[in-house]
Amino acid sequence: MMLIDDFGRKIDYLRISVTDRCNLRCNYCIPKGFKGFEASDNWISTEEILRIVYNFSVLGTHHFRLTGGEPLLRKNIVELVRDMKAMDQVKDLSMTTNATLLADKAESLFEAGLDRLNISLDSLSSKHMEEITGSNCLDTILAGLSAAKKAGFQKVRINMVVMPDRNFDEVEEMLRFCIQHQYILCLIEVMPMGESGRSTASVYLQESVKKLEIKFNLQPTTKKIGNGPARYWETASGFVNLGLITPLSQHFCETCNRVRLTVDGTLLMCLGQDNSFQLKPFLRNQCSDEELQNAIMQAIKLKPQSHDFLEKPKKINRIMSMTGG
Ligand code: GTP
Ligand code: 5AD
Ligand code: SF4
Repeated sequence: MMLIDDFGRKIDYLRISVTDRCNLRCNYCIPKGFKGFEASDNWISTEEILRIVYNFSVLGTHHFRLTGGEPLLRKNIVELVRDMKAMDQVKDLSMTTNATLLADKAESLFEAGLDRLNISLDSLSSKHMEEITGSNCLDTILAGLSAAKKAGFQKVRINMVVMPDRNFDEVEEMLRFCIQHQYILCLIEVMPMGESGRSTASVYLQESVKKLEIKFNLQPTTKKIGNGPARYWETASGFVNLGLITPLSQHFCETCNRVRLTVDGTLLMCLGQDNSFQLKPFLRNQCSDEELQNAIMQAIKLKPQSHDFLEKPKKINRIMSMTGG
């Protein structure tokens, strides 16, 4: 079985937002004083997440990512990882986290079978991190990052959202840090999601990569890392150190392979569009696996061809922490 959308794209990657809450307030993500989080009564349970995962896997989805908000805030997250990895069809399970709670959890996540970690870190300056996230969190994040390496995670990726007025001039320092510690640095263009994303200017990374190629002697590579939209570069030693996610300056919608599950059991068909399909009513009405699979197939029909951030930057009011990145 395979999920193919109306534009011929194979959908084999499900991103699961296990909470829309976060203990940070990155200024491109959650607006200060934001009160619109989903009431926890409306959340789907761990068992319901597992049921959705199982039925996606029957339909040919083998890649899964746990996101948030901050996924490590969700109770029983390690058990969820273990239960997902116990399913034969879950071939690749990864997580995107801000790493503030990772120092305590890295080892148990690795033992539970989590395959990969992407860690959000926008600066190596405590002052800048405090300005960006609203918290004095740099040391805790760095401790989480080291704990991930120590626990055995390979190819840990650092996601750096690049902003012209805040951290653009820190890209080279961050890349040096990643080369030194053998992390992958993935630079990301800010998307105009919600009020917070819209109020943050984007750097068009496609235009700045040439300078990094020359300075760090980087070559584009087709080596496969993960299943996302990043394009990668390697150093002369063959280690992949740089990735670029360029939804604005060079979008990748024609190869999109994913849909997102929100904490209230809704499938979002595109990060930059509102098309959605509620799975929760099916689950709560004791649907059969076959009915759930049919619902998922119906949902995939709603997947739009692409985002239109450049034409309609004001359209998406949903913030990223509710979308699952
Ligand atoms: P890998 O499996 O390691 O490739 O991860 P990934 O890049 O799919 O996941 P991650 O959560 O690290 O994504 C990082 C960021 O990339 C997200 O927070 C978004 O900003 C952006 N991104 C990921 N997927 C999409 C997508 O489908 N469309 C757009 N426009 N941006 C995306
Ligand atoms: N644009 C791009 N990426 C964003 N993230 C959050 N908000 C935005 C935005 N407006 C991403 C960051 C972070 C992940 C959790 O969400 O990549 O690493
Ligand atoms: Fe939290 Fe990640 Fe959003 Fe920052 S980007 S507020 S760490 S969910």
